[in-house]
Amino acid sequence: MSSEFDGKVALVTGGSTGIGRAVVDRLAAGGASVVFCGVDRAAGHDGGAGGARVTGRIADVRRAADVRGLVELAVSRYGGLDVVVTCAGVQRYGTVEDTPEDVWDEVLDVNLKGVYLTCRAAVPRLRERGGGSIVIVSSVQAFAAQARTAAYTASKAALNGLTRAMACDHAADGIRVNAVCPGSVDTPMLRWAADVWRGELSQEEQVARWGHSHPLGRVGRAEEVAELVAFLAGPRSSFITGAEHRVDGGLLARNPAALPE
Ligand code: NAI
Repeated sequence: MSSEFDGKVALVTGGSTGIGRAVVDRLAAGGASVVFCGVDRAAGHDGGAGGARVTGRIADVRRAADVRGLVELAVSRYGGLDVVVTCAGVQRYGTVEDTPEDVWDEVLDVNLKGVYLTCRAAVPRLRERGGGSIVIVSSVQAFAAQARTAAYTASKAALNGLTRAMACDHAADGIRVNAVCPGSVDTPMLRWAADVWRGELSQEEQVARWGHSHPLGRVGRAEEVAELVAFLAGPRSSFITGAEHRVDGGLLARNPAALPE
């Protein structure tokens, strides 16, 4: 593995499981020191593979004090902040008619406000280092909605807009901002969703069914998303900002209006 992140410090929200966990491992393997958070118990553990400098904390991205604490922890423990990856997110199903207000607020608060709070705390620290990279984990739902995903789809579409706004606002500080939009990726969130929708199928069969809707014929692995995140987080993407990057096995490339065989 290259050491493209040697001397760099990263903050990863939602880094305790799924895509975020893979991002933590990928950045740490590339030489970064990493602070990550989550709301589950796996978030409260320090240390990565092979002695990597990794610090985990239970912290809620809906709370300004929590995210400020994470940023300051990165600075006090590792000396600054260069990379921010926002993976913390929740999925809840419902139309606008049957989504209760508290569920709407939960989804928008975690998925969207949490990114605002994280970036608000992080931008001054990135600026201090002469710039940096923010990678926002959005979703293909920002472009094409599944049924019964009103709050989630709204939150992800808003993240793509926020990506563009922040990219313009902070370019002069050398801060790049990009959105990564995954298709279905095998994580605890996807497994949970499979249980919600599987009906008579097994969880495995439901995951496979979603996989078949992607031209590559399978769901993605968290490591495959982390690879794109690492590219956008590091110097190889130095002229890329304000953009949306799909990592979706071809999902959005396919027009569902199929011709007869
Ligand atoms: P996951 O459920 O495995 O992990 C979610 C992470 O967010 C965990 O670390 C959890 O502790 C953390 N989290 C949840 N609420 C939080 C809060 N209030 N404060 C701080 N941390 C919180 O989910 P997965 O699949 O890894 O998703 C990561 C991101 O990728 C999410 O933003 C999700 O919307 C997005 N995504 C996932 C896809 C998939 O198929 N798995 C597809 C497209 C986007």
